[in-house]
Amino acid sequence: MTTLSVDELRAAVARELPGVRADLERLVRIPGIAFDGFDFTPLERSAEAVAELLRAEGLEVQISRIGEGHPAVIGKKAAPAGAPTVLLYAHHDVQPPGDMSQWRTDPFEPTEIDGRLYGRGAADDKAGVMAHIAALRAFGDQLPVGVVLFIEGEEEFGSASLEDLLKKHQSELTADVIVIADSANWDIGVPALTTSLRGIVNSFVTVEVLQSAVHSGMYGGAVPDALMVMSRLLATLHDERGDVAVAGLVSKPASPLDYPEDRFRSEAGILDGVDLIGTGRIVDRIWTRPAISILGIDAPGTEGAPNALIPKAKAKLSMRLAPGDDPKSAYEALKAHLTKFVPWNAKISFEFEHDGNACVIDATGKYFDAVRDAFKVAYNGADTVEVGIGGSIPFIATFQEMFPNASIMVTGVEDPMSGAHGPNESLHLGEFERVCLAETLLLRNVALA
Ligand code: BES
Ligand code: MN
Repeated sequence: MTTLSVDELRAAVARELPGVRADLERLVRIPGIAFDGFDFTPLERSAEAVAELLRAEGLEVQISRIGEGHPAVIGKKAAPAGAPTVLLYAHHDVQPPGDMSQWRTDPFEPTEIDGRLYGRGAADDKAGVMAHIAALRAFGDQLPVGVVLFIEGEEEFGSASLEDLLKKHQSELTADVIVIADSANWDIGVPALTTSLRGIVNSFVTVEVLQSAVHSGMYGGAVPDALMVMSRLLATLHDERGDVAVAGLVSKPASPLDYPEDRFRSEAGILDGVDLIGTGRIVDRIWTRPAISILGIDAPGTEGAPNALIPKAKAKLSMRLAPGDDPKSAYEALKAHLTKFVPWNAKISFEFEHDGNACVIDATGKYFDAVRDAFKVAYNGADTVEVGIGGSIPFIATFQEMFPNASIMVTGVEDPMSGAHGPNESLHLGEFERVCLAETLLLRNVALA
């Protein structure tokens, strides 16, 4: 199979970049959010916009959904005779913008400042969508592999219909190599392959003590209030050192990679003097051990709070699970822990939101060699680092089960300063060009492998 040369592809990516950037900005302007309570019409527009971009590259495109689920875009171009097929994954939905007062620019108006493009989804994961399209454009009509693009529309809200979507389209999605452009590089200029991700269980816990609010002077001292109960209860989730105290969760050692504490502190933006929690190496704590975070509490606000005992409080908890743990049994372990430790026999109840499996990837074989070679060229000789990710892409475990023979490469456009999910999310534009080139060369190397 003849294919364009590395130099031709390098020039082609440089030529395509301005158009790719313009289309990325167009996508960032569409606030497609799959969280309950949001207007879902932008997700339709964003699916249509992605579909249009894929049609323009000569792919056969369909927008697919399961029931009330959000629209995924599937685009396909058959492989030249004898060539492998590569499935390219990204998601077009984004996280909600969160506290608008924290954004320095409009989250849905892409803005370049000092070499970074700011906007919700500019990195996670609209840049992933556009990296795939950049590679298609670089090859034009000389694509040396078959491709199938799968651009999901509800990744950030737990991928509820993903498994059914994959089943529905299983034959169309079958591929030799899967490239998931939804992760992060180790540093700017240092490419990474992600080889482990944590699982997740999101749920709610509610505690109740009274039929309704009563005078805090008349009853306080003998009747507990719901926030007191909730505070004590949540405090039992971690031990004195900050390690998770729920029994029955899996913990493993992470890769030998060193994540220096000062670098970690500065990337996290933790305030001077505030301690880290947990024990052991940082990569163990964030990649291969459980974490429990309290994402929110429903209770009266402080402003105008009357002198009354609060009858009821609700908290949202997010558990991250080590590879090898099972979300269903971990959720049972969490409920058993909370039921055991709820103080003063307060009434306790639970509500499940969503979960997803962790995964581990064995990054060996000819296709992984092909990707390492591609990255080395795109990153001017830098070696690829194998990293874990504390976040979750539940989709990957599902893919591993359904396509056990495919090599799954988890790559991405994020860097430690991208601030995904927070205010002022941004994409490093220099890194984005390297990612586009890396993916283009990856397709070339897969064809030659
Ligand atoms: N792109 C992230 C996964 C990720 C997180 C990669 C951190 C690199 C660093 C993905 O879009 C994401 O955020 N997933 C959700 C999944 C959840 C809703 C099931 C997450 O981890 O919160
Ligand atoms: Mn993502």
